[in-house]
Amino acid sequence: MDKIVIRGGRKLRGTVRISGSKNAALPIMAAALLGDGPSRIRNVPRVADIRTMSDILSSLGARVDFPKPHEVVIDPAGLSNPTAPYELVSKMRASICVLGPLLGAIGKARISLPGGCAIGSRPIDLHLKGLNQLGASMRLSHGFVIANGKRMRGADVFLGGRFGSSVLATANILMAAVKTPGVTRIEGAACEPEIVDLARFLQAMGARIGGVESHSLRVEGVRRLKGVDHTLIPDRIETGTYMIAAAITRGELFLKGARADHLRAVIEKLQEAGVWVEARAGGIRVNGAGARRVVEITTHPYPGFPTDIQAQMMTFMTVSPGISVITEKVFTERFMHVPELNRMAARISLEGSSAIIRGVRALSGAPVMASDLRASAALILAGLVARGETTVDRIYHIDRGYEDIEGKLKRVGAAIERIR
Ligand code: UD1
Repeated sequence: MDKIVIRGGRKLRGTVRISGSKNAALPIMAAALLGDGPSRIRNVPRVADIRTMSDILSSLGARVDFPKPHEVVIDPAGLSNPTAPYELVSKMRASICVLGPLLGAIGKARISLPGGCAIGSRPIDLHLKGLNQLGASMRLSHGFVIANGKRMRGADVFLGGRFGSSVLATANILMAAVKTPGVTRIEGAACEPEIVDLARFLQAMGARIGGVESHSLRVEGVRRLKGVDHTLIPDRIETGTYMIAAAITRGELFLKGARADHLRAVIEKLQEAGVWVEARAGGIRVNGAGARRVVEITTHPYPGFPTDIQAQMMTFMTVSPGISVITEKVFTERFMHVPELNRMAARISLEGSSAIIRGVRALSGAPVMASDLRASAALILAGLVARGETTVDRIYHIDRGYEDIEGKLKRVGAAIERIR
């Protein structure tokens, strides 16, 4: 198994090119199943989750080609098999987003219940409830969700859950509704930039969607959709991670291709913490040389502070003076990085769904274990500033969502190696 070894203490300087959004790519690749012809998706990140989605779509009978490293062409002509098997779905929880497109495209789906990131229990009740409200019949059998959408009709769907809106449930209902006769109203819809990108992709295919960027979507079902050419938005979570890399090493990075308008909450909190951030044409510049201040953060659905940047931000706070607090309101148990950071001499204690972080002068390099995608990023950030050497094990987690992280960090001055 690969490991990443980092020698801490180098200031990062230079330009990092931000990749396309993984979380936009996954549902958009699935949405390509709804077209009458092939769709070309550009700016696709080279990460393991994209491969997994490509394997799932191929197993359903679609043809998936990568004519260039960052481009995928999906031809749904051969789509016939409604089953997404356990071997593939268990690798990636987001595989559930083929459910809506399968119902919209062939009226049936048989999806293994998902596995994926180990961040607490991750139910799919909102996905099932929403599809049910559209008239799909759903049952669970031997670890599979078996759905029949032959009688789907436009309807009013409410997707607000205990923890707010759900990104992939919104994606699933939207993708199921675009070819369903009648009008569907989705209230309590997620409005993350990845959902907006999906809606734009579907609109280009010919879907009629109103209310994009809001919590209420209105969909008027159409009979046919065409294949299209689409360029993905930049990855805001990768961007946030490199913003924190610049901040924590007291360096300066230009994040080429990044969109500041997708990261307002993160930029505001970093500025509050004493980091200099400036949106420029074509990217974001970040400088971490200034004096640091204590901040309090609560994660929320968009436009709030993203849960996917919580772990990385916590690493930053471990070396900021004073006592900072992070409250996790989206995945209330998402703290697997805490014991690992504490092994590196951080001082973090947990109080329910809040983490109390007492800033220390320095972290101490240690062997640590990645437990999920964003926790791995947090440990790499810790390694960048820790005294001595940090070895991050189980980095297949990071390869799921960060394109060439060691190459990108090395080019801006980090002492980082992958050991195969
Ligand atoms: C997506 C992102 C993930 C991110 C998350 C929250 C992708 C591929 N993944 O995941 O990186 O961390 O949004 O921003 O885009 N919930 C329910 N019932 C459901 C569905 C969700 O209770 O049926 C709860 C979840 O447990 C969680 C909250 O709703 O507490 C938000 O989860 P959700 O937005 O659904 O996350 P994903 O779409 O799976």
